[in-house]
Parts: sequence; structure tokens; C-alpha cells
Amino acid sequence: MTLNSSSDWAEHLKHHWERRAASDLAEYFIAPHGFGDDDEWTEHGRRHATAALVGLETDWLSQRDILEIGCGAGRLAQFFVERTKSYTGLDIAPSMIERAQKRCGGAANARFFETDGLTVPAPARDRQYGLILSIAVMIHCPKPVIESLVRDAWSLLAPGGRLRIQVYADATDTDGLTAPPGAAPATAPTPRPDADASPPSTADELGSGDADPPNASEPPKNEPNRHQRSGHHPRPGSLPGEAELVDEHYMGYPFRYAEFAELMRELVPEPAQLYRDEPNCIYASILKPA
Ligand SMILES: C[S@@+](CC[C@H](N)C(=O)[O-])C[C@H]1O[C@@H](n2cnc3c(N)ncnc32)[C@H](O)[C@@H]1O
Repeated sequence: MTLNSSSDWAEHLKHHWERRAASDLAEYFIAPHGFGDDDEWTEHGRRHATAALVGLETDWLSQRDILEIGCGAGRLAQFFVERTKSYTGLDIAPSMIERAQKRCGGAANARFFETDGLTVPAPARDRQYGLILSIAVMIHCPKPVIESLVRDAWSLLAPGGRLRIQVYADATDTDGLTAPPGAAPATAPTPRPDADASPPSTADELGSGDADPPNASEPPKNEPNRHQRSGHHPRPGSLPGEAELVDEHYMGYPFRYAEFAELMRELVPEPAQLYRDEPNCIYASILKPA
């Protein structure tokens, strides 16, 4: 398949994620940490959900509608629904949505919709959101898809709302790297003031950052993903087609820090607070003025 446009990419992503979601390894692709042990997997989700919401007051959150782009199997959603007025989860893979719905146990304030991978679908455009999150999703998306998602998410953010996203980083670019998770952001090449709350501390979503990122936006072929290379996570078995699902897991565009800063300036009119606490990803947190 030739991947010439953002819609080609979205179709490619949908196909691959749906195959992953329907496989026995679905939760492995969401978070290998704790894979095979439901309690441990859930505990990782709790920690990452807490990190995603850090700095946001409990009362503030409880009165907000929140949108998660790429809800996966509901690893974070199960904690978001407890803390917010309403939760809307989107995913490109319908089988992921089924899993997320089950995990959230039919919570009355939760709803889920399938997306085209580029925009927020019509049924979810019925409100403005106080918080829009996309964690461990854009790390798997090529640049044109990220651009489309960010632009559209921004248009649905309520005044006073916050957008928090995470993208894949070029691990050879040390700009913006901080010390251990939770530390204040270190030097950035183009630091800008940020109106948002204190920087979210970030949990170890991507492990210790011991892998090299791909060098281009094309999917990496026939290479173990970072989790297998690190040896910290269980190697999946040998279901038919499994190797391909694993090898193409990280299709994300590897941003250099300054490049991502520049892109965010193009995509959103407010300053983005960027930070890194490990080599493999860059986080952005942006406040829409009230
Ligand atoms: C690694 S999982 C993360 C799920 C969840 N955010 C979490 O942290 O547990 C990535 C999810 O993003 C979904 N996804 C990938 N690209 C997407 C896109 N362009 N739009 C919406 N969902 C997408 C995949 O189907 C998958 O469920």
C-alpha cells in the first residue's frame, strides 16, 4: 500500500490496530508493562492516569467533560470515568472500543465512538471538552495524522480547557530532556512561557528509553520493537501474523524537540509547554484561555 496522504495513513493505522485489538495480544500493544497479569497491568494504568491528570484539581476535573483520543482497551479510561463529569473515548479500532466498554463496566458517564483516525467523529462533537488527552497514541502516528488530530482537538476544547498529548521523540536528540520523572523540565531550545499549570510529571509509559527510534515516518520493518529489545517485557508467542503486528507497532514520527516546538506553534495559537523526562517521547500541555 502506498501511503501518500493522511487518509492513506489513517486507513493503514485502522487496519493494523484492529488486527492488534482482535488478537490475544491486544493488551500487550496497549502497555506491555504488566501484560499477562491483570492486576499489574491495571496498576500501571492507574499510575499513568494519575500522571496524565497531574496538576488538575479534583473539583475542577469533576465538573469537566473529557475526551480521550485513542482510548485503547480502557486502561486509563477506567480511572478517568471516576474523576470527571463525563468521559468520551475514541478509538480507530472498534475491537479496542469493545474492550474499553467492558473495562469501564457500563459507567453511566462514559461513552465511546469509533474514529477515522484523523478527526473527532460527529456524535462526539456535541460539546466542548475541558480536557482532551491522547496518551501513547500519537507515538504510533505519522506526522500528517498528528497534525490533523491536534488541529481538530483544539477546535473542540472549551475556553479554559487543556490539551495534553504525547508524541514519539528522536531519542538521539537530547534537547528538552530532564532528569528523572517528576523533575522540572530542563533546557529547551526554544523555551516559551506557558499559562498551564505545573508540568505534569510523567510515568514510565515507554520504559527506560533504551531503544533507537526509527529514522523516517515509514513503519519500521522486521525489527523487534523497543520492548523486545529491552528484554524487560514478555516476548509474545507465535500466533500467525503476530511478528508483523509487533514489528510494525511503532509507526510514529520521531520528532526532534525543536521541530515539535515549531509544529505546535503552527497548529495551535497558544503556547505549548513541552517537556521530556526520558528520550523516547515529548509531551505537550496547552491551555486554551478562558
Ligand atoms: C498503545 S494504545 C494506548 C491506549 C490508551 N491511550 C492507553 O494509554 O492505555 C494506542 C491506541 O490508539 C489507537 N489509535 C492509534 N492511532 C489512532 C488514531 N489516529 N486515532 C484514534 N485512535 C488511534 C489504537 O487503536 C490503540 O487503541
